[in-house]
Amino acid sequence: MTNLNDCVDPKLVPQRTLRGGDKMPAVGMGTFGSDRFSAKQVAEAVKGAAEVGFRMFDCASVYGNENLIGEVFEEVIKSGIKREELFITSKVWNDMHGKGDVLLSCAQTLKDLRLDYIDLYFVHWPFRNFHPEGAPPDYHSPDARPYNHEEYMETWYQMERLKKAGYVRNIGTSNMTVPKLKLLLRDCTIMPAASEMELHPSFQQPELFNFCLEHGIRPIGFSPIGSPTRPDRDKTDDDVVDIEDAIVVKIAKEHKVHPAVICVKWAVQRGQTPIPFSVYRKEYAGNIRCTIEDPLSDKEMNELGQADKNCRLIKGQVFLWKGAKDWTDLWDINGEIAK
Ligand SMILES: NC(=O)c1ccc[n+]([C@@H]2O[C@H](COP(=O)([O-])OP(=O)(O)OC[C@H]3O[C@@H](n4cnc5c(N)ncnc54)[C@H](OP(=O)(O)O)[C@@H]3O)[C@@H](O)[C@H]2O)c1
Repeated sequence: MTNLNDCVDPKLVPQRTLRGGDKMPAVGMGTFGSDRFSAKQVAEAVKGAAEVGFRMFDCASVYGNENLIGEVFEEVIKSGIKREELFITSKVWNDMHGKGDVLLSCAQTLKDLRLDYIDLYFVHWPFRNFHPEGAPPDYHSPDARPYNHEEYMETWYQMERLKKAGYVRNIGTSNMTVPKLKLLLRDCTIMPAASEMELHPSFQQPELFNFCLEHGIRPIGFSPIGSPTRPDRDKTDDDVVDIEDAIVVKIAKEHKVHPAVICVKWAVQRGQTPIPFSVYRKEYAGNIRCTIEDPLSDKEMNELGQADKNCRLIKGQVFLWKGAKDWTDLWDINGEIAK
């Protein structure tokens, strides 16, 4: 039988205001099964998450589960939760950039999710490079190429068309860097409302985070717990584990919660919107409850600020092109876009 004692009133969950005025919850539910959890498991978790109080769901066509999640959204809306109370994101995958394809991809997502609009639609990666499902870490597509700004803008203008037509309410970027965002802000007609980026205590990206806030772009933090269940292609020997970090563990003991919960609390109080994933009700219920009770003190927030180890986990090495040095070429580390 369902335990309803773990539910949270969504009205109590902090909200962020996007440019243009839409409200977005300060915590959302991730839906990437990481090649480990089936589409059915993820869809069931979305149903449970809506029940415990989540209203924001981070979807993407490449997660291969939008059709099953769409059935859940339909049920959720039939159960009495209004469409306007939900905040649903999705993303166009790397093989659907450019004229025509962005619109087709969005149309498919709308059909799969059984919606007539998406609240926030992202360009998933700023590259057209992609990999087959379950690709090994050393996989490289022979067609992969470095960032091409003209091509990115071709995609972005299609995103703008979708927004103007009302199929999506807001548009955003994902896996961007400050140099790439500067070019986008120079050339766009419609500014991004949000930017999805990897953010967790051991990878805080202060420069990108602050750049976004200064330009009215809401940071959304993916892999907020340090993605312990991420695909093997995204693991390397020197990766750190956030939920084993000494500062995170110490503060978790003081609050009598799992270290994962401290990662979520830190993210919400810092000002990003984390989108933790879990298929276990106890975990995802904890990930929303922690946003409305027992906040971290300023001292704890400062301590967690010191936990940054500049340790990127989702390095994107499968998107590299022939001739690239290594995964750092994707991230413009010294301020210049790799060619
Ligand atoms: N834009 C992008 O390119 C991009 C990239 C990556 C992810 N994302 C989005 O971000 C979402 C989240 O990222 P992620 O899935 O990589 O990683 P994550 O949320 O950092 O980690 C998920 C894992 O953390 C554990 N966990 C979650 N809540 C917990 C709790 N309360 N207590 C204990 N353990 C907990 C679970 O592991 P166990 O199963 O072992 O308990 C779960 O599988 C994705 O689902 C996706 O929507 C976007």
